[in-house]
Amino acid sequence: MVETSAVADADSGIGAGQLASRNAATLTVSAKERVADGVVSLVLTHPDGARLPDWTPGSHIDLVLPDGTVRQYSLCGDRWDAHAYRIAVLREAAGRGGSACVHDRLRPGEHVGVGGPRNHFPLVPSEKYLFVAGGIGITPLLPMMQQAELLGVEWQLLYGGRTRASMAFRKELAAAYGEKVHVVPQDERGLLDLNGWLGVPRPDTKVYCCGPAPLLAAVEEACAAWPPYALRIERFTADTQTPPVRDKPFEVELRRMARTVMVTPDVSVLEAVRAAGAGVLSSCEQGTCGTCLTPVLEGQPDHRDSILADHERAANDCMFLCVSRSCGDRLVLDL
Ligand code: FES
Repeated sequence: MVETSAVADADSGIGAGQLASRNAATLTVSAKERVADGVVSLVLTHPDGARLPDWTPGSHIDLVLPDGTVRQYSLCGDRWDAHAYRIAVLREAAGRGGSACVHDRLRPGEHVGVGGPRNHFPLVPSEKYLFVAGGIGITPLLPMMQQAELLGVEWQLLYGGRTRASMAFRKELAAAYGEKVHVVPQDERGLLDLNGWLGVPRPDTKVYCCGPAPLLAAVEEACAAWPPYALRIERFTADTQTPPVRDKPFEVELRRMARTVMVTPDVSVLEAVRAAGAGVLSSCEQGTCGTCLTPVLEGQPDHRDSILADHERAANDCMFLCVSRSCGDRLVLDL
């Protein structure tokens, strides 16, 4: 069984409207640096030098770009630095312009909106960790390695990328952690030998993986015999979905608002509850960022997000309104 999280490092943009009502802080781009072929890092600070909200390894922020679109990026700096957030952005050739905007338009000194941080990919306690990164998937794992090091926990990193030059923070990692870091550029050494590196299933070890979909699928296969929840992955993009369980309308009661809305097959629960006046925040609207998480009081959600693990779905106590629907005639939400 796999613990899945998701953050859209890719260009999964939305309009500015959804973030207008959320508590987005205005931060300053205090540094911008090229850290690999096609990758820049940004350091974001408060314009007044104030401290920023705390975060934990695996967290991400919403970045509101100058054109008003919003993207999610993992925090990859020092979590003990209370005054700066660092993110790294890969230029997505097939993206919708968000990463190009960061690369080409955003300059040091400019202000950006920042929402969060939120964490759907937390580092859970373990005696040992194995980290597997593919390309820009290294970003959420960087603070995890720092944390494991601080805790004195045994860990290793397997880091794959197209070429050595395309692998962000490669030198930083080698300098800080030496032989714990195994760098595998594909053009020199081929694909990652996951089975060989992961070895036999171990009950004392958690495997954390972030990277492109084929790598995640390969790691899931390689960890099929590992103990439940030993593998934890973070997706860049929404998982493939089957059709909704139900193709008929269903009722959603907004308990605290004392209102009931009908959700037809052509609208999302998010759209329906907003039309009824519920102020639910959203960002990715693809079931990857976690912003629209809402408690469920009654009913069985048809979970269609890329975040919850199987046991969390089975609890039926929360859902992501942007993509998830209902298995039955009725849901009651804590709204
Ligand atoms: Fe991102 Fe719903 S808005 S999960």
